Amino acid sequence: MSQDAFAPARLGPVGLRNRVIKTATYEGMCPGGMPSDDLVEHHRRLAEGGVGMTTVAYCAVSADGRTFAEQMHMHEGVLPGLRRVTDAVHREGAAASLQLGHCGTFTKNKALSTVLPRGPSLVVNEYGIAAGKPIALAMRQGEIAAVVAEFARAADLAVEAGFDAVELHLGHGYLLSQFLSPASNRRHDAYGGSLENRARLPLEVVRAVRAKVGPKTAILCKTNLRDGFRGGLELPDAVGVARALEAEGVDAIVLSGGFTSKTPFFLFRGRRPLAEMIAVEKSQLQKLALRFFGKKVIREYPFEEMFFLPEAREVRRAVRMPLVLLGGIVSRENVERAMAEGFDFVAMGRALIANPDLVRGMAQRTLLRSRCNHCNICVAEMDRSGVRCVLEDR
Ligand SMILES: Cc1cc2nc3c(=O)[nH]c(=O)nc-3n(C[C@H](O)[C@H](O)[C@H](O)COP(=O)(O)O)c2cc1C
Repeated sequence: MSQDAFAPARLGPVGLRNRVIKTATYEGMCPGGMPSDDLVEHHRRLAEGGVGMTTVAYCAVSADGRTFAEQMHMHEGVLPGLRRVTDAVHREGAAASLQLGHCGTFTKNKALSTVLPRGPSLVVNEYGIAAGKPIALAMRQGEIAAVVAEFARAADLAVEAGFDAVELHLGHGYLLSQFLSPASNRRHDAYGGSLENRARLPLEVVRAVRAKVGPKTAILCKTNLRDGFRGGLELPDAVGVARALEAEGVDAIVLSGGFTSKTPFFLFRGRRPLAEMIAVEKSQLQKLALRFFGKKVIREYPFEEMFFLPEAREVRRAVRMPLVLLGGIVSRENVERAMAEGFDFVAMGRALIANPDLVRGMAQRTLLRSRCNHCNICVAEMDRSGVRCVLEDR
């Protein structure tokens, strides 16, 4: 018999009131890198709407882990603001998770401590051209060890800010995903080559975070099922990564896919809002690049409900640990199907941006489906004035 998605559940050490998680969708609500009132209200509202747990999106583990300078990175100064988020979420009866990541080579941050960004191997960094960071260099052993320590320290501070869980970003082409992917990791040392070697850094991070936060904080990992381009990480490696994370005692894996620098819309599917993205882009050079090369570079993928289900099933067969199904989950029917397929939780992004009350509505059968039409203008909105659904205006 499948689980009841709307009944209380345990995610490792954390009790949730249901099995629906708001996944990380970058809020664009940290001006100057500081959590704002808007960020507090955004997550309070999602908690009020009934989610079991909400995830504060991409918080870089260090200043050099930011993809751009306005992004939040973990340091003592952000703790009071984050504490307000977790307090507000807890008061509404939900749990709170913080997504921790490092951008590696994928950055346009002009304020890096090194002249050029660092990642697994030397690569062209198209995203950073306008910021004067056109290439990224291979990390040295000492830099790898420093990143492990940064993840552990950031997780520790997240606990201090009141988070019940941390989500380590191993997907979407960020640093740990760059190490996992055979396309971006061409190292010849212990951190490159075989899957065992490519997974070494992510697993060192998991171990260091667990050692720091102890057994009372849930650790989730967001991983790629596929990078979405030829030569990238494919499903057999994704299964191998899941097995390794299970062996490390990770509390749940959020199964995703896509590489932001190469296949950004593989992550979401649906319409590519190029005009809106050009309108919010601040750099004139990037604007021009988007105008002339956008259609060629940013491939569009048709939207399907539960678009990661076929690949996620393969991971489900391979491990016994809790798995979170993500991607195009928009209705009570989708949630029930995920449970029937043996997933332990579902994560939803756009459907909850469009209808923050959806979880309560699905539980009470008063709102069975989100109004989200995958126009993806929310992706442009996060860079304009903060992530939101434009259907409110229509
Ligand atoms: C506006 C927007 C911002 C996003 N920001 C993040 C992010 O910061 N971190 C992340 O892991 N995924 C991010 N994503 C991807 C989502 O977490 C999710 O993987 C994707 O939207 C598919 O889920 P959905 O179909 O339920 O929206 C973002 C998606 C959207 C639409």
